[in-house]
Amino acid sequence: MCGIVGFTGRDQAKDILVEGLRRMEYRGYDSAGVALEAAGADGAARLDVIRRVGKVSGLASELEGYAGQATCGIGHTRWATHGRPSTANAHPHTSCDGRIAVVHNGIVENFAELREELQGRGHVFKSDTDTEVLAHLVEEAYAERGELMAAVRDAVSQVVGAYGLAVVCADEPGVVAVARKDSPIVIGVGEKGSYVASDVIALIDATRDVVVLEDDQFARLSPGGVEYTDAEGRPIEPAVTHVDWDLDMAEKGGYPDFMLKEIHEQPRVVRDTLVGRMTATGELDIDELGLSLEELNDIDRVYVIACGTSYHAGLIAKNLIEGWARIPCEVEAASEFRYRDAIITPSTLVVAVSQSGETADTLAAIRDARIKGAKVFGITNVVGSPVARESDGVIYTKANKEIAVASTKSFIGQVVSLTLLALLLAQVKYRLTTKQARMLFRELGDSAAQIQEILDGCGPAVREAAAACKDARSALFVGRGMGAAIACEGALKLKEVSYLHAEAYAAGEMKHGPIALIEPGFPVIAVATKSPTYDKTVSNLMECRARGAVVVAVATEGDDEIKKIADHVIYIPRIRDCFSPITASVPLQLLAREVALMRGCDVDQPRNLAKSVTVE
Ligand code: F6R
Repeated sequence: MCGIVGFTGRDQAKDILVEGLRRMEYRGYDSAGVALEAAGADGAARLDVIRRVGKVSGLASELEGYAGQATCGIGHTRWATHGRPSTANAHPHTSCDGRIAVVHNGIVENFAELREELQGRGHVFKSDTDTEVLAHLVEEAYAERGELMAAVRDAVSQVVGAYGLAVVCADEPGVVAVARKDSPIVIGVGEKGSYVASDVIALIDATRDVVVLEDDQFARLSPGGVEYTDAEGRPIEPAVTHVDWDLDMAEKGGYPDFMLKEIHEQPRVVRDTLVGRMTATGELDIDELGLSLEELNDIDRVYVIACGTSYHAGLIAKNLIEGWARIPCEVEAASEFRYRDAIITPSTLVVAVSQSGETADTLAAIRDARIKGAKVFGITNVVGSPVARESDGVIYTKANKEIAVASTKSFIGQVVSLTLLALLLAQVKYRLTTKQARMLFRELGDSAAQIQEILDGCGPAVREAAAACKDARSALFVGRGMGAAIACEGALKLKEVSYLHAEAYAAGEMKHGPIALIEPGFPVIAVATKSPTYDKTVSNLMECRARGAVVVAVATEGDDEIKKIADHVIYIPRIRDCFSPITASVPLQLLAREVALMRGCDVDQPRNLAKSVTVE
């Protein structure tokens, strides 16, 4: 996940920037860089840009030999989203004349149009990033306005998307211009000067009184202080917040653990994964597709191959791919698929789902599938990962680095990405009209706000349900259709973080065996949202209840009937059944975490588990 830092003051900027970048390393990154304002041989200011792929320590070693005396600069750690990890794609990015440098977090949604326009006006691009357009836009605006803050305001007014932005200009020494929209920025003034960062952890050593910049607010940092303005350039006086977090809390953004922080990032993940994916005319725009529409049209069988949580995302995708595109789809654990002789032809599409992009079984499975002639499509969170490199096409889940071992936000990113793939296949197969696809895409996007509603409101109900489950020896998760797939993920989350045995079952299968387990007090956690099989699920829950089960139901807001069957109800907003996994999984993530905490478990680092499984 990208990190921004900036400083202007009375001390060596390079050391302060490197320390700030080090503090943000926990967020994950693949390259790092700084732009330092130094005096040239003629005494005139210039910008020195130093960037490296790899660790901040590598950048720090390179900077040890830096002889300039810069007291102003900006720095960045980059987690690749547009363009692979490389020195050219690392931030800061510079204008054509090299006198303006920018670091940026967020996504410039209209970067393709802006880039084309800028190239038409003679700008030469040096990277594949969306960010570079900002450097060129500021350059143009600066030529006209002759003032950095005004130029930054002009530049961002042309941008659609999200940005946390810090800009330096060799012609305005000592000034760092800052802008923000939908991407965090904090600013503080300490003894040595003025600081900006995307994460409070980078500046809490300098000051604990910070301004959390709001959307469409701007700041002009100089050694003596900070001036704040609105989008029209009028002065404003933002509130100062005192931060009393220790370092550990600061890393977690004030949340008690990474798991909760990452669960709360999910509305952003949905939005970021969807940004720029649909054109104004309703076509899906998957720029890393790698397969022609003709090749996609020829697909007559899909295998989704994955492990663990990613496999559960695959179960959801099966319903969508078969339901919308009418292509037979099987979902298989990569560890099984790789050792069996699956039927593969050139019209088979193998979809590999992997957060890390390096799970050994998943990689082996796609290598084998390629040899057998399949087309391979990757869904991964890591740009340039082996799964990305070895697939014909890829969709990145835009979850950013996930630190908690148990996958939460990556899962949601995977489900959203697989939904896009299913929509695309359905469009290519003429099973969905552009109008239908556009409507579904819009509703998919609405799920971001619904997740937020769940996060804001379901805490008390989740805690109550967790208290009812925490002392159990085992629990059953049930549901039908999409609900059955969600149940699988709910059971896995509970197992891995709370060490409470849990099993998922299709609700209709209960009476064929598992119902024998039910005795008074046995927790049955049901995904009972409104769906075509809702009534059937309710009947299955009644059977459990009759045998003494404690029933916890994730249900649709307004469903009062369910209260008669369930002991504990966690309500979520009404959503089309096909998108219910995106919202209904969230209370189950929270439930797993809550039970784990009540049982005294470490939710971020469960025993015996590794974040990335690179061995068989
Ligand atoms: C569970 C979890 C694991 C992973 C699995 C696959 O919370 O995170 O089950 O989903 O190890 O990992 P990736 O997606 O990296 O291939």
